[in-house]
Parts: sequence; structure tokens; C-alpha cells
Amino acid sequence: MTMNDVDEARRMGQEAWSDVASRDAGRKVVYPFRPRKIMEAYLWREPEGCFVAEKDGRVVGAAYSHVWGRIGWVGPFEVAPAHQNLGIGKGLLAECETFLKRSGCEIIGLETMPHIPKNLHFYISQGYRPDILTLIVERVLGAREEVNENREIAVREATAGDLAVVLGAVKRIGAKIFPGLDQSAEVEMTVHRDLGKVLLWEANDVIIGVVVVHTYHRLEEGDYSSLRLLIVDPNRMDGRDGFHGLLKEAERISRDSGKKRMFARFPVRTPSTYEEMLGSSYSIKGANIRLIKDGEYLEQGKYLLFSWAG
Ligand SMILES: CC(C)(COP(=O)(O)OP(=O)(O)OC[C@H]1O[C@@H](n2cnc3c(N)ncnc32)[C@H](O)[C@@H]1OP(=O)(O)O)[C@@H](O)C(=O)NCCC(=O)NCCS
Repeated sequence: MTMNDVDEARRMGQEAWSDVASRDAGRKVVYPFRPRKIMEAYLWREPEGCFVAEKDGRVVGAAYSHVWGRIGWVGPFEVAPAHQNLGIGKGLLAECETFLKRSGCEIIGLETMPHIPKNLHFYISQGYRPDILTLIVERVLGAREEVNENREIAVREATAGDLAVVLGAVKRIGAKIFPGLDQSAEVEMTVHRDLGKVLLWEANDVIIGVVVVHTYHRLEEGDYSSLRLLIVDPNRMDGRDGFHGLLKEAERISRDSGKKRMFARFPVRTPSTYEEMLGSSYSIKGANIRLIKDGEYLEQGKYLLFSWAG
């Protein structure tokens, strides 16, 4: 895939998702175009890991790979409706898997809608096994809200000069969550492609929690922000306080940039993260299932918000 393919891939993706949503709803649904900014960021980060399938010079399929250290995942992933069931999807998925393995990923997975039989057949027959349900939750951001009252939790915005230290911290915290997990690509994309903000929780000058919030949607593309990543050092006794401090700050940044809602995603291994989100006025908007092809994966720590979905 090249930057010149991005617009055609977005058009094709909009067609594929409108088709699947219309079948699901039993009526015509028009899906929005995915913003160009995020697709360009994926391609910028993994130029060798984003693929298109072409027929007669037109883009008829696209897939995007993400390298998080030893963990690799794929998404979004779509084939134009008129070209589905011809093996194009399998071909694109195989290209992503080859790239991820070559990039050092030992655990390969993705997330999809658990109620679409075709998707389940597609992935399970390609060697993926169901791992865990992931929730998509939303909070409406009120005009008047309480601020972060917990003065012990100092959350600040990362500056350009912090980048190397922040990348190191994300890698260090990630390795405690799961050996080899390195989500620094999310920070790099957000900073270099201007997708939103990176916020830090520090104690004694050491970064112990990081949140990445995407606010890049233009108003006509959506009135929401998306909490892409929230991680807290799983060994901290005060992890819950840091989690809420980071969450509140991400909400404030979103509100200040004119957003009306904020989305977050996370797997449900125990009810605890969901209970925390419920207590912070989040409600469920949807769910996906995570599927894993290679390797075993189990996160340490419960104050984490992220998913393998693009
Ligand atoms: C999922 C998707 C990428 C697959 O692409 P594709 O090019 O159609 O995939 P392939 O042709 O390689 O394989 C399709 C498989 O699904 C099977 N299939 C088709 N309809 C099916 C149904 N209703 N139930 C079960 N299996 C079905 C086909 O028979 C084929 O399997 P087989 O080779 O074992 O016979 C494509 O359907 C798509 O873009 N969907 C909309 C967006 C989406 O859901 N993306 C995935 C998000 S994670």
C-alpha cells in the first residue's frame, strides 16, 4: 500500500462496512468514511505492513498490521462486497501474518464482531481461536464536570522533548503487563501524526502511567474522542488512583477540544475494569471478540484500557 492508495482504500472500506452493517440491521445503513488521518498514520508507522488487493487497477481489499513488540495484530481489514468470497481476504491476512512474524511478533491476533458467522468462520478456519470478549464503552462528556480532585495524582501532558523517555516508559510498563508488550508505536503515531494527546502520570520523576487520547476527528467526521491506550504500572499499589486520574484528564482534554463523547475499549477478563468504568459513568456501546492465532497471551494488571482494533 502507498499513500496514493489511502483514499481508494477508505472508499472501499466504507462500502464493505456499509454492506456488513446493512445485512446485520436488515435495512440500508451508510457507514462513515474512516478519517484519512488515521489511515495515513497506520501506513506511516508500518509501510511494509499495510496491504491492498487490486483488480483492474482498483483497490478491492485492504489490511493494516500493528506491531506492539512481541504482539502483532491486524485491523482494519476489509474486502469490497463484489469481490468477497474469492479468497482475497485469506490472501491479505496471510500477508499481514508474514509481515508480523518477520517483525518479531510471536503472538498474532485481531478483534472482530462475534455475531457475524462469516467472520467467525473466516478467522477460525484460518487457525485463530477465540480468546476474550472486548467491550466498547462510551461516556457522554457533560459541559460542567468535576475536575481531578486527587491532588496526589499529578497528570501532565507529554511534550515533544519527552518523547524518548515516554517511549522507554511505555516499553517498560508494557513489559510488566506482558513480557515483550511494547505499545510505543501508539505514542509515536499520536505525536508524529498529530492524532491527539499523550498524558503522563509520574511519581518521583518516573513515569508510571500513560494515556493516549485521539481527538483528531474533524467535527463533520464525529463529535467523539477515542481513548486509544491507558496503561498503569501493574505493581503500583495506587494504580486505581492513577487510572482514574489519567481517565479524568483524557476526558477533560476531549471536552476542551469540543468533543461530546469519549470511547474506550478493553477486554473483560474479570468484572473489575468494567465496574471501574461503570462507576465513571461509561456505558456499553458494543463488543468484539479477540481471536489469537499464535502464542499465549495474558495481561497483568487491571487498570488497563486498550484493544487490538484499528
Ligand atoms: C471478512 C472479510 C475481510 C473476508 O474477506 P473475503 O475476501 O470475503 O474472504 P475469503 O474469500 O478469503 O474467505 C471467505 C470465507 O467465508 C466463507 N463465508 C462466506 N459467507 C459465509 C457465511 N455467511 N457464513 C460462514 N462462512 C461464510 C466463505 O465460504 C469462505 O470460506 P471458505 O474458503 O472456507 O469456503 C470480508 O468479508 C469483509 O470485508 N467483511 C466486511 C468487513 C469486516 O467484517 N472485516 C473484518 C473485521 S475484523
